Amino acid sequence: MKILGIETSADETAASIVQDGYLMLGNIVASSMDLHAAYGGMVPEIAARSHIEAMTPVIDQCMDQANCTWDDIDAIAVTQGPGLSGSLLIGNLTARTLAIAFNKPIYGVNHLAAHIYANFITSVGSALTGQYKLPAQQPTFPLLALIASGGHTQIVWQKTPADYQVIGQTRDDAVGEAFDKVAQILGLPYPGGPSVAAAALSGDPLAVKLPQTQLDNPYDFSFSGLKTAVLRAAQAQCGKDYTLPSSQLPDLLTQAQKNNLAASFQSRAITTLVSALKQASEEYVPATVVIAGGVAANQLLRQTIDKEMFGNVVFTDIKLCTDNAAMVATVAYHRSKQGIAADDPYQMAINPGLVR
Ligand code: KG4
Ligand code: ZN
Repeated sequence: MKILGIETSADETAASIVQDGYLMLGNIVASSMDLHAAYGGMVPEIAARSHIEAMTPVIDQCMDQANCTWDDIDAIAVTQGPGLSGSLLIGNLTARTLAIAFNKPIYGVNHLAAHIYANFITSVGSALTGQYKLPAQQPTFPLLALIASGGHTQIVWQKTPADYQVIGQTRDDAVGEAFDKVAQILGLPYPGGPSVAAAALSGDPLAVKLPQTQLDNPYDFSFSGLKTAVLRAAQAQCGKDYTLPSSQLPDLLTQAQKNNLAASFQSRAITTLVSALKQASEEYVPATVVIAGGVAANQLLRQTIDKEMFGNVVFTDIKLCTDNAAMVATVAYHRSKQGIAADDPYQMAINPGLVR
């Protein structure tokens, strides 16, 4: 069964064809990230307009890469939410139009569940192997997943494919969002994850003492206080108080101060994620621990988990950790195998606030 996946929840316009929920035949991602960089964060209107321009060429390229015609495609899957309304709408309308025009079943999928299923794409039989470092085997259930992205931070306990339970989540900012905001405070380029990680390589993670938030649910997170603590520390390092506008900080901080703040923030954010995940792993005893979402690209996260953990931990290729459509096609395959019915292409709506 070959599924064409379409993803447009944020600033990536993506199409992918995955066979039988593991074999990636084509995978194309176009990003409008460069257009957002000038604003220090994602601008929803720019993202939506970019999807309109990129959608058709991205699907065409994906069909070519996978050597498929419409006769080869058995179903279409598209991200229904969560995400930005204007962005989701473009993928949704494209997928519905294609489903109606070519008479294919359509599946609307949850973007967060899709991030977990990026780890179900394996290297077995893949013609794209040279381009991706993929696991040889699929994760086994029960599985525990950390989903760490720009919009969400959750720990999910998935006992069986159908039994999906969010056991903890952020109460304010997502961890990727905190990376993006800290980058803005330090004057580092958007997206903040890679630029904070790069600055941190030359900094001392112990240079600035930052707080670790304690919540009643040990699997919940709060990153907004940590971001503010970085802001206050940056103001103090410039000899100023909280009244100094953050926009002036990048010019006042030295490169060494920026590197130390980046390293101290990254260290605290990653320790917070890993200690919650480790505790959940000890309580739930999963067969596999899966790390998903854009922040899974973080090298310190990978190294800390390798050092600390605990059981069978799966990381997939960095290109499949950030937003892509292969994960969308893959989760739709596994949902269809659970007997979940296809959606109505004439009715299927976006769901920007979708949780589960
Ligand atoms: O999953 P994703 O591509 O999009 C969302 O669904 O949000 O995640 C994007 C997020 C951004 O906040 C970005 O700064 C963060 O992932 N990110 C990283 C790294 N690469 C991307 N965060 C930390 N370290 C990285 N290397
Ligand atoms: Zn995502």
